[in-house]
Amino acid sequence: MPHASIIAPSLLAGDHANLAASARLVADSGAPWLHCDIMDGHFVPNLTFGPETLAALRRAGCKLFFDTHLMLAEPQKYIEPFAQAGANLISIHIEPAYDHRGTLARIRQLGCQCGIVLNPGTPASAIEALVEQVDLVLVMTVQPGFGGQPFRHDMLPKLQEIDGWRRKRSLQFRLEVDGGVDLATAKECRAAGADTFVAGTSFFKSADKAAFAATIAGL
Ligand code: DX5
Ligand code: ZN
Repeated sequence: MPHASIIAPSLLAGDHANLAASARLVADSGAPWLHCDIMDGHFVPNLTFGPETLAALRRAGCKLFFDTHLMLAEPQKYIEPFAQAGANLISIHIEPAYDHRGTLARIRQLGCQCGIVLNPGTPASAIEALVEQVDLVLVMTVQPGFGGQPFRHDMLPKLQEIDGWRRKRSLQFRLEVDGGVDLATAKECRAAGADTFVAGTSFFKSADKAAFAATIAGL
């Protein structure tokens, strides 16, 4: 049975002077997840926010599922602070060299779900040995670092390949896409096997966010 579709609006496209209000817009739309993009200026050429921001959102009453995407050169150093701050799922990239397996295990040990992420230039084969150990695989459909970039259609075969392993081995991980996702590209991703959709610009620009979230949930 395929997973039902989930939308994870990205806080990166919200109002950084009022992130609690942006998170409320997400909750009010009916979206269950909030995608939190953490950038360190090393692994990606941009900076965002850290665990204190997630903790502050929790203190402000935010109950959304925090889908935490670590774009960090040394993610293994920041697992505890994000888990303590209220992350529900923590995703780490495959590209930097560190103990991926041990870091995924540590995320689970701390009571969070764990995910592995691939950049557009990274082949699916790079994560094949890890898929039995994860709750989510995130296929980047733009080069990470900035919102508002065009969707990379050449990532669709990668989704099909990973979805193929999932079916063949009867695995349950979610397959998420991130970057340039809107109603049209989300539909293409769903057809290729994705079930979890990060939407930054398209969600926050949408005039009727509840309708937008419901359309994605219904894919
Ligand atoms: C990009 C981030 C994305 C970003 C997506 O580096 O990982 O989560 O917020 O933004 P949109 O949906 O605008 O492409
Ligand atoms: Zn992201």
